[in-house]
Amino acid sequence: MIESEKVMDMEASKRPSRSEKKVMLAAKDVVVSYGGVVAVDGVSFEVHAGEAVGLIGPNGAGKSTMLASLGGQAKAVSGSITLDGHDVTKFPAYRRARHGLVRTFQSTSEFSDMTTFENLVTAGNGFSGARLSSVVLGRKASIRADREIAERAWHMLERFDMTHVANAWGKELSGGQRRLVEIMRCLMTAPKVMLLDEPMVGVAPHLVEKLVGDLKSIRDDGIALVIVEHALEVVRELTDRVVVMSFGKKIADATYDEIVNDKEVQDAYLG
Ligand SMILES: Nc1ncnc2c1ncn2[C@@H]1O[C@H](COP(=O)(O)OP(=O)(O)OP(=O)(O)O)[C@@H](O)[C@H]1O
Ligand SMILES: [Mg+2]
Repeated sequence: MIESEKVMDMEASKRPSRSEKKVMLAAKDVVVSYGGVVAVDGVSFEVHAGEAVGLIGPNGAGKSTMLASLGGQAKAVSGSITLDGHDVTKFPAYRRARHGLVRTFQSTSEFSDMTTFENLVTAGNGFSGARLSSVVLGRKASIRADREIAERAWHMLERFDMTHVANAWGKELSGGQRRLVEIMRCLMTAPKVMLLDEPMVGVAPHLVEKLVGDLKSIRDDGIALVIVEHALEVVRELTDRVVVMSFGKKIADATYDEIVNDKEVQDAYLG
């Protein structure tokens, strides 16, 4: 392809093709068991930078456990997990987070008793670069770092249309707003990969579309997303590729259109 055609091609699709993007997260033959129950049974898949991968399947298929094994909350008994080319299989969750792999959780009480702005600043403070400057460089640098974090937090609120709730307590927010705060907290750490377990749960129907748009913009910034989701219209709208699990195993790994027409997927989940 000549250069001008390449540019036109890029413009036509707006986004670079999958093969042009770097593999950010790779799971290889991951096995997780709880006592005798094998919850994840030899699952492999890759997620590229700027790609949103959906993880779907029936209840108990092992989706949340797979996400936990990627995030470091569940230990893989065998297999490996690679983050941006580095083997993180043996890393605990906090070390994976430091290397850019973050996961959203249900809201905590600590989160409820802080304002939206405080929630974001706290997440930014926990990010290693900020801490280091206050210890190593002294008070002035520390004040500068604090100001930078506050500015980033404010930009984040502007970006996601949340400035009007900057001073609201966590407990005053709606389900959708809380979910957004969780997502913004993740973004304050400048992640490479974000893992989301059923992000639309508790979000009012009229806000689902906004949240889908927000997640798309995060993906388009080059962040890799893995999203466990039961709502198929969200999966279709948001994801570039879908991994289907059933009884702990991966049974399909393709585009949404391909998996909905797959006989095995229909029998296991969609039928
Ligand atoms: N902490 C745990 N201890 C013991 N067994 C567990 C634990 N967590 C999950 N399991 C079991 O592992 C299997 C997979 O569960 P998992 O929660 O990963 O499924 P899921 O696909 O996320 O389901 P759902 O769609 O209902 O959220 C199930 O058989 C479940 O009972
Ligand atoms: Mg689950």
